[in-house]
Amino acid sequence: MSTFQAPKGTYDLLPPHSATYLAVREAISAPLRNSGYGYIETPGFENVELFARGVGESTDIVTKEMYAFETKGGDRLALRPEGTASVLRAALEANLHKGGNLPVKLWYSGSYYRYERPQKGRYRHFSQVGAEAIGAEDPALDAELIILADQAYRSLGLRNFRILLNSLGDKECRPVYRAALQDFLRGLDLDDDTRRRVDINPLRVLDDKRESVRKQLTGAPALGDYLCEACKAYHEQVRELLTAAGVAFENDANLVRGLDYYTRTTFEFVHDGLGSQSAVGGGGRYDGLSEMIGGPALPSVGWALGVDRTVLALEAEGVTLDIPAATAVYAVPLGEEARRVLFAQVTALRKAGIATDFAFGGKGLKNAMKSANRSGARLALVAGERDLAEGVVQLKNLESGEQTAVPLDAVVDEVRRTLG
Ligand code: HAM
Repeated sequence: MSTFQAPKGTYDLLPPHSATYLAVREAISAPLRNSGYGYIETPGFENVELFARGVGESTDIVTKEMYAFETKGGDRLALRPEGTASVLRAALEANLHKGGNLPVKLWYSGSYYRYERPQKGRYRHFSQVGAEAIGAEDPALDAELIILADQAYRSLGLRNFRILLNSLGDKECRPVYRAALQDFLRGLDLDDDTRRRVDINPLRVLDDKRESVRKQLTGAPALGDYLCEACKAYHEQVRELLTAAGVAFENDANLVRGLDYYTRTTFEFVHDGLGSQSAVGGGGRYDGLSEMIGGPALPSVGWALGVDRTVLALEAEGVTLDIPAATAVYAVPLGEEARRVLFAQVTALRKAGIATDFAFGGKGLKNAMKSANRSGARLALVAGERDLAEGVVQLKNLESGEQTAVPLDAVVDEVRRTLG
């Protein structure tokens, strides 16, 4: 144990468990890579204003949870709390939207930071895989993204998740609804903080978890009743496409996301085995975000799935991923000359693409064989002085115990043949 520990709200990913995280990232990104999404990587920090304007001045993320700081050069930066604003900023900066090839479809994977109160499933450093489709207003694009996330979860073997779907309206109908909601909320008995929220972000009040507030919300105007014809028709098409694709969803008129940029389609993937932090992923359309950060009108849609919570969901369902052992062959030299010869064989096997490890540190046979078994390898390559004198090494099948002598120049071929 060192004097130091991982900071509060963070944890280390260690082998063998870390292999599950890699496999989850791989599984989430596979359907995206297969559907025209290109990989993008942006910096871990950005100008703080990007998030303030993009995610929203009144959101918890911006007011309470951002790791914001001033650099020695006087720049005001923040560790990224989410990916959408950064990805759009990068796409605009590189003029990706100008080639006439819209939508620009991008996927990403990385670390995000929110100064939240830590609990199971809620961390200060967490990991997302996300996708953004920039510059097209097409219900099929919204449907595509939801279908791909569904496919990703199913490919991991997850079953107990649900998709909640809502429409938040657009710049025509949302302001009308907002005003109606404000009228309603101003007639309630609310504390000062909540009253301020009614002025700045009334939709968020609908998400208040306190019983004292909840019981007053019955009879509040519903956004669904205020959607304009264009939003209704758009939403209906998204739903039809999902149904045609066999993706089940639940209409949830109360789904208000924690970020302000959403318009029209919004959705969340929730898992019932996770307790209070049940959202394993979420996203939606953000038709106005580009203009909010100084770009042209670029209607867009995307999602981010939480890797940490997806791993917890797998655990909750008792799903273990079929992850092949990292090592296929383990080499055990007995003596100095054997070390030299086997080390060369290890390098040749690795060059041939065969995952191979070596008993480092001059271990005795017993200890080295223990390490070989622990590594999960199927084959051990053992050589002592007598083998070398005969120009062979012993190839031992660690499952059956069977052992054969293989000429030194035939090791790679023989290993490949045995592993199949
Ligand atoms: P979000 O709902 O804030 O959306 O985050 C997406 C997912 O990231 C959540 O469903 C959850 O799995 C995970 N997550 C968020 N905060 C934490 C945390 N503190 N600890 C562990 N996991 C967490 C966004 O970030 C949007 N950028 C999604 C999006 C992309 N919308 C459009 N495009």
